[in-house]
Amino acid sequence: MRIVSGIQPTGNLHLGNYLGAIRNWVAMQDEWAPQSSEIKRLQQLAGIKSKQESANESRAECFYFLADLHAISMPHDPKALGENTREMTAALVACGIDPDKSTLFNQTQVPAHAELQWLLNGTARVGWLNRMTQWKDKAGKNRDGQSVALFTYPVLQAADVLIYQATHVPVGEDQKQHLELARDIAQKFNNDFATEDAPVFTLPEPIIPPAAARIMSLRDGTAKMSKSDPSDMSRINLTDDADAIMGKIKKAKSDADALPSEAEGLEGRPEARNLVGIYAAMSGQSVAQILGDFGGKGFGAFKPALGELLVEQLAPINARFNELRQDREALNAILRKGAEKARAASAPTLAATYDALGLVR
Ligand code: TYM
Repeated sequence: MRIVSGIQPTGNLHLGNYLGAIRNWVAMQDEWAPQSSEIKRLQQLAGIKSKQESANESRAECFYFLADLHAISMPHDPKALGENTREMTAALVACGIDPDKSTLFNQTQVPAHAELQWLLNGTARVGWLNRMTQWKDKAGKNRDGQSVALFTYPVLQAADVLIYQATHVPVGEDQKQHLELARDIAQKFNNDFATEDAPVFTLPEPIIPPAAARIMSLRDGTAKMSKSDPSDMSRINLTDDADAIMGKIKKAKSDADALPSEAEGLEGRPEARNLVGIYAAMSGQSVAQILGDFGGKGFGAFKPALGELLVEQLAPINARFNELRQDREALNAILRKGAEKARAASAPTLAATYDALGLVR
Protein backbone atom coordinates (compact mmCIF):
# COMPACT_ATOMS: atom_id res chain seq x y z
CA MET A 1 0.00 0.00 0.00
CA ARG A 2 1.18 3.48 -0.86
CA ILE A 3 -0.47 6.49 0.77
CA VAL A 4 0.19 9.85 -0.89
CA SER A 5 -1.20 13.33 -0.29
CA GLY A 6 -0.23 16.99 -0.51
CA ILE A 7 -1.08 20.45 0.73
CA GLN A 8 -0.33 23.84 -0.77
CA PRO A 9 2.03 25.94 1.36
CA THR A 10 -0.06 29.07 1.02
CA GLY A 11 -1.25 30.75 4.22
CA ASN A 12 -1.79 28.85 7.45
CA LEU A 13 -2.96 25.35 8.12
CA HIS A 14 -6.62 25.72 9.12
CA LEU A 15 -9.21 23.56 10.81
CA GLY A 16 -10.65 22.42 7.44
CA ASN A 17 -7.23 21.11 6.33
CA TYR A 18 -6.69 19.49 9.72
CA LEU A 19 -10.04 17.71 10.05
CA GLY A 20 -10.52 17.05 6.33
CA ALA A 21 -7.05 15.69 5.59
CA ILE A 22 -4.11 16.01 7.99
CA ARG A 23 -5.70 14.09 10.85
CA ASN A 24 -6.15 11.17 8.45
CA TRP A 25 -2.57 11.53 7.23
CA VAL A 26 -1.41 11.08 10.82
CA ALA A 27 -3.80 8.19 11.52
CA MET A 28 -2.72 6.35 8.35
CA GLN A 29 0.93 6.93 9.19
CA ASP A 30 0.50 5.67 12.75
CA GLU A 31 -1.73 2.73 11.96
CA TRP A 32 -0.28 1.56 8.69
CA ALA A 33 3.26 2.82 8.27
CA PRO A 34 6.45 1.20 9.54
CA GLN A 35 7.61 2.40 12.93
CA SER A 36 10.34 4.98 13.37
CA SER A 37 13.87 4.10 12.41
CA GLU A 38 15.01 5.09 15.91
CA ILE A 39 12.79 2.44 17.54
CA LYS A 40 13.93 -0.12 14.94
CA ARG A 41 17.57 0.76 15.62
CA LEU A 42 17.11 0.32 19.38
CA GLN A 43 15.34 -2.99 18.83
CA GLN A 44 18.10 -4.20 16.52
CA LEU A 45 20.71 -3.25 19.11
CA ALA A 46 18.79 -5.30 21.65
CA GLY A 47 18.42 -8.16 19.14
CA ILE A 48 14.61 -7.91 19.23
CA LYS A 49 12.48 -8.45 16.18
CA SER A 50 9.02 -7.61 17.44
CA LYS A 51 5.80 -9.15 16.19
CA GLN A 52 4.80 -5.68 15.09
CA GLU A 53 8.02 -5.26 13.12
CA SER A 54 7.45 -8.48 11.18
CA ALA A 55 3.91 -7.33 10.38
CA ASN A 56 5.19 -3.87 9.42
CA GLU A 57 7.35 -5.24 6.66
CA SER A 58 4.29 -5.59 4.47
CA ARG A 59 2.56 -2.39 5.58
CA ALA A 60 2.00 0.95 3.90
CA GLU A 61 4.48 3.63 3.01
CA CYS A 62 3.29 7.24 3.40
CA PHE A 63 4.41 10.13 1.17
CA TYR A 64 3.25 13.59 2.26
CA PHE A 65 4.38 16.72 0.47
CA LEU A 66 4.14 20.49 0.25
CA ALA A 67 2.65 21.29 -3.15
CA ASP A 68 4.86 24.31 -3.75
CA LEU A 69 4.75 23.85 -7.55
CA HIS A 70 0.96 24.13 -7.39
CA ALA A 71 1.31 27.36 -5.40
CA ILE A 72 2.75 29.21 -8.42
CA SER A 73 -0.44 28.69 -10.41
CA MET A 74 -1.90 31.80 -8.72
CA PRO A 75 -0.21 35.17 -8.19
CA HIS A 76 2.24 34.72 -5.32
CA ASP A 77 5.03 36.44 -3.44
CA PRO A 78 8.33 34.57 -4.03
CA LYS A 79 9.74 35.82 -0.70
CA ALA A 80 6.78 34.42 1.22
CA LEU A 81 6.66 31.04 -0.57
CA GLY A 82 9.91 29.69 0.91
CA GLU A 83 8.96 30.75 4.43
CA ASN A 84 5.45 29.34 4.04
CA THR A 85 6.89 26.03 2.84
CA ARG A 86 9.00 25.72 6.00
CA GLU A 87 6.14 26.94 8.23
CA MET A 88 3.73 24.41 6.74
CA THR A 89 6.35 21.69 7.30
CA ALA A 90 6.55 22.74 10.97
CA ALA A 91 2.73 22.70 11.17
CA LEU A 92 2.53 19.17 9.73
CA VAL A 93 5.15 17.86 12.15
CA ALA A 94 3.31 19.64 15.01
CA CYS A 95 0.12 17.81 13.96
CA GLY A 96 1.91 14.46 14.25
CA ILE A 97 3.55 13.75 10.90
CA ASP A 98 6.76 11.97 11.87
CA PRO A 99 9.54 12.37 9.27
CA ASP A 100 10.99 9.06 10.46
CA LYS A 101 7.79 7.19 9.63
CA SER A 102 6.54 9.20 6.62
CA THR A 103 8.41 10.65 3.68
CA LEU A 104 7.84 14.42 4.07
CA PHE A 105 9.14 16.71 1.33
CA ASN A 106 8.34 19.54 -1.09
CA GLN A 107 7.56 18.89 -4.76
CA THR A 108 10.28 21.21 -6.04
CA GLN A 109 13.04 18.95 -4.74
CA VAL A 110 11.61 15.96 -6.63
CA PRO A 111 11.73 16.93 -10.33
CA ALA A 112 9.94 13.71 -11.33
CA HIS A 113 6.60 15.36 -10.41
CA ALA A 114 7.02 18.09 -13.04
CA GLU A 115 8.53 15.67 -15.55
CA LEU A 116 5.67 13.21 -15.23
CA GLN A 117 3.18 16.05 -15.56
CA TRP A 118 4.59 16.83 -19.01
CA LEU A 119 4.40 13.20 -20.02
CA LEU A 120 0.77 12.98 -18.83
CA ASN A 121 -0.13 16.17 -20.72
CA GLY A 122 -0.11 13.92 -23.78
CA THR A 123 -2.90 11.82 -22.26
CA ALA A 124 -5.08 14.36 -20.39
CA ARG A 125 -7.84 15.93 -22.55
CA VAL A 126 -8.67 19.63 -22.66
CA GLY A 127 -12.36 18.79 -22.21
CA TRP A 128 -11.58 16.96 -18.94
CA LEU A 129 -9.73 19.97 -17.56
CA ASN A 130 -12.49 22.35 -18.70
CA ARG A 131 -14.93 20.43 -16.51
CA MET A 132 -12.92 20.83 -13.27
CA THR A 133 -15.01 22.83 -10.80
CA GLN A 134 -11.95 24.31 -9.08
CA TRP A 135 -10.75 25.69 -12.44
CA LYS A 136 -14.21 27.13 -13.12
CA ASP A 137 -14.45 28.66 -9.61
CA LYS A 138 -10.96 30.14 -9.60
CA ALA A 139 -10.98 31.40 -13.18
CA GLY A 140 -14.50 32.81 -13.00
CA LYS A 141 -15.36 34.80 -16.12
CA ASN A 142 -11.73 35.63 -16.88
CA ARG A 143 -10.44 32.29 -18.22
CA ASP A 144 -8.16 33.89 -20.79
CA GLY A 145 -6.40 35.89 -18.08
CA GLN A 146 -5.44 32.83 -15.98
CA SER A 147 -2.06 31.13 -15.98
CA VAL A 148 -1.69 27.93 -18.00
CA ALA A 149 -0.52 26.37 -14.71
CA LEU A 150 -3.95 26.96 -13.14
CA PHE A 151 -5.58 25.12 -16.06
CA THR A 152 -3.15 22.18 -16.04
CA TYR A 153 -2.97 22.08 -12.22
CA PRO A 154 -4.97 18.79 -12.03
CA VAL A 155 -2.47 17.05 -14.34
CA LEU A 156 0.35 17.91 -11.92
CA GLN A 157 -1.85 16.60 -9.12
CA ALA A 158 -2.35 13.36 -11.06
CA ALA A 159 1.43 13.11 -11.53
CA ASP A 160 1.90 13.65 -7.75
CA VAL A 161 0.02 10.50 -6.90
CA LEU A 162 0.70 8.32 -9.94
CA ILE A 163 4.47 8.77 -9.69
CA TYR A 164 4.42 6.80 -6.37
CA GLN A 165 1.84 4.22 -7.51
CA ALA A 166 -0.45 5.57 -4.76
CA THR A 167 -3.19 3.20 -3.68
CA HIS A 168 -4.88 5.56 -1.17
CA VAL A 169 -5.07 9.37 -1.10
CA PRO A 170 -6.45 10.99 2.09
CA VAL A 171 -8.12 14.31 1.14
CA GLY A 172 -11.14 16.51 1.84
CA GLU A 173 -14.22 16.37 -0.40
CA ASP A 174 -13.06 19.30 -2.57
CA GLN A 175 -10.22 17.19 -4.02
CA LYS A 176 -12.43 14.26 -5.05
CA GLN A 177 -12.89 15.48 -8.62
CA HIS A 178 -9.13 15.94 -9.07
CA LEU A 179 -8.58 12.35 -7.97
CA GLU A 180 -11.22 11.07 -10.35
CA LEU A 181 -9.30 12.85 -13.09
CA ALA A 182 -6.06 11.19 -11.92
CA ARG A 183 -7.80 7.81 -12.27
CA ASP A 184 -9.07 8.72 -15.76
CA ILE A 185 -5.58 9.76 -16.85
CA ALA A 186 -4.05 6.57 -15.40
CA GLN A 187 -6.68 4.42 -17.06
CA LYS A 188 -6.30 6.05 -20.48
CA PHE A 189 -2.50 5.89 -20.31
CA ASN A 190 -2.62 2.20 -19.35
CA ASN A 191 -5.07 1.50 -22.19
CA ASP A 192 -3.07 3.44 -24.78
CA PHE A 193 0.49 2.52 -23.83
CA ALA A 194 0.53 -0.59 -21.63
CA THR A 195 -0.96 -4.06 -21.44
CA GLU A 196 -3.57 -5.26 -18.95
CA ASP A 197 -1.01 -7.60 -17.35
CA ALA A 198 1.60 -4.87 -16.91
CA PRO A 199 -0.10 -1.49 -16.36
CA VAL A 200 2.22 1.48 -15.85
CA PHE A 201 -0.01 3.22 -13.27
CA THR A 202 -2.05 2.15 -10.23
CA LEU A 203 -5.54 3.66 -9.92
CA PRO A 204 -5.65 5.58 -6.61
CA GLU A 205 -8.62 5.56 -4.17
CA PRO A 206 -9.55 8.78 -2.35
CA ILE A 207 -10.00 8.47 1.44
CA ILE A 208 -12.47 11.14 2.58
CA PRO A 209 -13.49 11.39 6.26
CA PRO A 210 -17.33 11.28 6.39
CA ALA A 211 -17.63 13.51 9.47
CA ALA A 212 -15.30 16.26 8.23
CA ALA A 213 -15.32 16.01 4.44
CA ARG A 214 -16.18 19.70 4.10
CA ILE A 215 -15.69 22.13 6.98
CA MET A 216 -17.43 25.41 6.18
CA SER A 217 -16.52 29.06 6.77
CA LEU A 218 -17.40 30.51 10.19
CA ARG A 219 -18.87 33.54 8.40
CA ASP A 220 -20.96 31.68 5.81
CA GLY A 221 -22.15 28.12 6.29
CA THR A 222 -22.50 27.63 2.52
CA ALA A 223 -18.85 28.44 1.65
CA LYS A 224 -15.88 26.15 2.29
CA MET A 225 -13.41 27.14 5.04
CA SER A 226 -10.44 28.26 2.96
CA LYS A 227 -7.01 29.87 3.11
CA SER A 228 -7.99 32.20 0.31
CA ASP A 229 -10.99 33.75 2.14
CA PRO A 230 -9.95 37.37 2.76
CA SER A 231 -11.55 37.33 6.23
CA ASP A 232 -9.39 35.67 8.89
CA MET A 233 -12.55 35.45 11.03
CA SER A 234 -13.87 32.84 8.58
CA ARG A 235 -11.40 30.18 9.73
CA ILE A 236 -9.61 28.75 12.76
CA ASN A 237 -5.88 28.62 12.00
CA LEU A 238 -3.79 26.04 13.78
CA THR A 239 -1.56 28.98 14.73
CA ASP A 240 -4.40 30.81 16.55
CA ASP A 241 -3.99 31.17 20.31
CA ALA A 242 -6.76 30.48 22.83
CA ASP A 243 -8.09 34.07 22.79
CA ALA A 244 -8.27 34.14 18.99
CA ILE A 245 -10.10 30.79 18.89
CA MET A 246 -12.65 31.80 21.56
CA GLY A 247 -13.18 35.17 19.81
CA LYS A 248 -13.73 33.58 16.39
CA ILE A 249 -16.20 31.00 17.71
CA LYS A 250 -18.08 33.66 19.70
CA LYS A 251 -18.44 35.80 16.56
CA ALA A 252 -19.13 32.85 14.23
CA LYS A 253 -22.34 33.29 12.27
CA SER A 254 -25.20 31.29 13.79
CA ASP A 255 -28.97 31.77 14.05
CA ALA A 256 -31.44 32.78 16.73
CA ASP A 257 -33.01 29.34 17.27
CA ALA A 258 -32.10 26.76 19.88
CA LEU A 259 -30.27 23.64 18.67
CA PRO A 260 -32.60 20.83 17.61
CA SER A 261 -32.68 17.49 19.43
CA GLU A 262 -32.28 15.49 16.21
CA ALA A 263 -30.03 15.78 13.18
CA GLU A 264 -32.94 16.41 10.77
CA GLY A 265 -33.55 19.70 12.57
CA LEU A 266 -30.21 21.00 11.22
CA GLU A 267 -31.53 20.98 7.66
CA GLY A 268 -31.72 24.47 6.17
CA ARG A 269 -29.45 25.76 8.99
CA PRO A 270 -25.97 25.61 7.38
CA GLU A 271 -24.15 27.51 10.13
CA ALA A 272 -25.65 25.43 12.93
CA ARG A 273 -24.89 22.25 10.98
CA ASN A 274 -21.28 23.32 10.47
CA LEU A 275 -20.64 24.21 14.13
CA VAL A 276 -22.20 20.97 15.35
CA GLY A 277 -20.19 19.10 12.67
CA ILE A 278 -16.95 20.67 13.92
CA TYR A 279 -17.83 19.68 17.49
CA ALA A 280 -18.53 16.12 16.33
CA ALA A 281 -15.28 15.84 14.36
CA MET A 282 -13.18 17.27 17.21
CA SER A 283 -14.78 15.22 19.99
CA GLY A 284 -15.22 11.96 18.09
CA GLN A 285 -18.90 11.94 19.13
CA SER A 286 -21.81 11.53 16.73
CA VAL A 287 -24.07 14.46 15.80
CA ALA A 288 -26.92 12.61 17.56
CA GLN A 289 -24.95 12.42 20.81
CA ILE A 290 -24.12 16.12 20.68
CA LEU A 291 -27.71 17.10 19.99
CA GLY A 292 -28.71 14.80 22.86
CA ASP A 293 -26.60 17.04 25.13
CA PHE A 294 -27.26 20.44 23.55
CA GLY A 295 -30.75 20.05 21.97
CA GLY A 296 -33.02 22.83 23.23
CA LYS A 297 -30.04 25.00 24.25
CA GLY A 298 -29.07 28.15 22.35
CA PHE A 299 -25.70 29.16 20.85
CA GLY A 300 -24.99 31.10 24.07
CA ALA A 301 -24.39 27.71 25.70
CA PHE A 302 -23.04 25.78 22.69
CA LYS A 303 -20.39 28.22 21.44
CA PRO A 304 -18.33 28.43 24.67
CA ALA A 305 -18.33 24.62 24.87
CA LEU A 306 -17.15 24.36 21.25
CA GLY A 307 -14.51 27.07 21.81
CA GLU A 308 -13.15 25.26 24.86
CA LEU A 309 -13.02 21.93 23.04
CA LEU A 310 -11.04 23.53 20.19
CA VAL A 311 -8.64 25.29 22.55
CA GLU A 312 -8.03 22.11 24.52
CA GLN A 313 -7.29 20.02 21.41
CA LEU A 314 -5.37 22.60 19.41
CA ALA A 315 -3.21 24.04 22.23
CA PRO A 316 -0.60 21.22 22.16
CA ILE A 317 -0.33 21.49 18.35
CA ASN A 318 0.03 25.25 18.62
CA ALA A 319 2.77 24.95 21.25
CA ARG A 320 4.76 22.39 19.19
CA PHE A 321 4.36 24.51 16.08
CA ASN A 322 5.73 27.61 17.82
CA GLU A 323 8.79 25.65 18.92
CA LEU A 324 9.47 23.97 15.56
CA ARG A 325 8.98 26.99 13.34
CA GLN A 326 12.04 28.71 14.88
CA ASP A 327 14.45 26.07 13.59
CA ARG A 328 14.85 26.88 9.91
CA GLU A 329 17.82 24.53 9.47
CA ALA A 330 16.05 21.56 11.03
CA LEU A 331 13.06 22.14 8.73
CA ASN A 332 15.30 22.39 5.65
CA ALA A 333 16.98 19.14 6.73
CA ILE A 334 13.62 17.33 7.07
CA LEU A 335 12.64 18.39 3.54
CA ARG A 336 16.03 17.46 2.07
CA LYS A 337 15.98 14.01 3.63
CA GLY A 338 12.38 13.40 2.58
CA ALA A 339 13.12 14.54 -0.98
CA GLU A 340 16.03 12.13 -1.23
CA LYS A 341 13.74 9.21 -0.35
CA ALA A 342 10.99 10.50 -2.65
CA ARG A 343 13.41 10.87 -5.60
CA ALA A 344 14.45 7.23 -5.22
CA ALA A 345 10.81 6.08 -4.94
CA SER A 346 9.74 8.08 -8.01
CA ALA A 347 12.46 6.85 -10.37
CA PRO A 348 10.99 3.47 -11.47
CA THR A 349 7.60 4.89 -12.53
CA LEU A 350 9.20 7.77 -14.39
CA ALA A 351 11.47 5.37 -16.28
CA ALA A 352 8.53 3.07 -17.10
CA THR A 353 6.53 6.05 -18.42
CA TYR A 354 9.32 7.23 -20.74
CA ASP A 355 9.75 3.68 -22.00
CA ALA A 356 6.03 3.14 -22.56
CA LEU A 357 5.90 6.33 -24.65
CA GLY A 358 8.85 5.24 -26.78
CA LEU A 359 11.08 8.12 -25.68
CA VAL A 360 14.78 7.31 -26.07
CA ARG A 361 16.79 7.94 -22.89
P1 TYM B 1 -5.25 22.32 -0.18
O1 TYM B 1 -3.89 22.83 0.11
O2 TYM B 1 -6.29 23.30 -0.60
O3 TYM B 1 -5.84 21.52 1.05
C1 TYM B 1 -5.11 20.48 1.70
C2 TYM B 1 -6.10 19.40 2.17
O4 TYM B 1 -7.10 19.97 3.02
C3 TYM B 1 -8.40 19.63 2.56
N1 TYM B 1 -9.32 20.75 2.84
C4 TYM B 1 -10.49 20.62 3.47
N2 TYM B 1 -11.14 19.55 3.99
C5 TYM B 1 -12.35 19.76 4.59
N3 TYM B 1 -12.91 21.00 4.70
C6 TYM B 1 -12.30 22.10 4.19
N4 TYM B 1 -12.85 23.30 4.33
C7 TYM B 1 -11.04 21.94 3.55
N5 TYM B 1 -10.15 22.80 2.94
C8 TYM B 1 -9.12 22.04 2.52
C9 TYM B 1 -8.24 19.42 1.05
O5 TYM B 1 -9.26 18.61 0.53
C10 TYM B 1 -6.86 18.77 0.98
O6 TYM B 1 -6.97 17.39 1.20
N6 TYM B 1 -4.64 20.44 -4.78
C11 TYM B 1 -4.47 20.17 -3.36
C12 TYM B 1 -3.04 19.82 -2.98
C13 TYM B 1 -2.49 18.67 -3.73
C14 TYM B 1 -2.81 17.29 -3.56
C15 TYM B 1 -2.01 16.59 -4.50
C16 TYM B 1 -3.68 16.60 -2.71
C17 TYM B 1 -1.56 18.75 -4.73
N7 TYM B 1 -1.26 17.52 -5.18
C18 TYM B 1 -2.07 15.20 -4.62
C19 TYM B 1 -3.74 15.20 -2.84
C20 TYM B 1 -2.95 14.52 -3.76
C21 TYM B 1 -4.84 21.41 -2.58
O7 TYM B 1 -4.76 22.52 -3.05
O8 TYM B 1 -5.18 21.16 -1.27
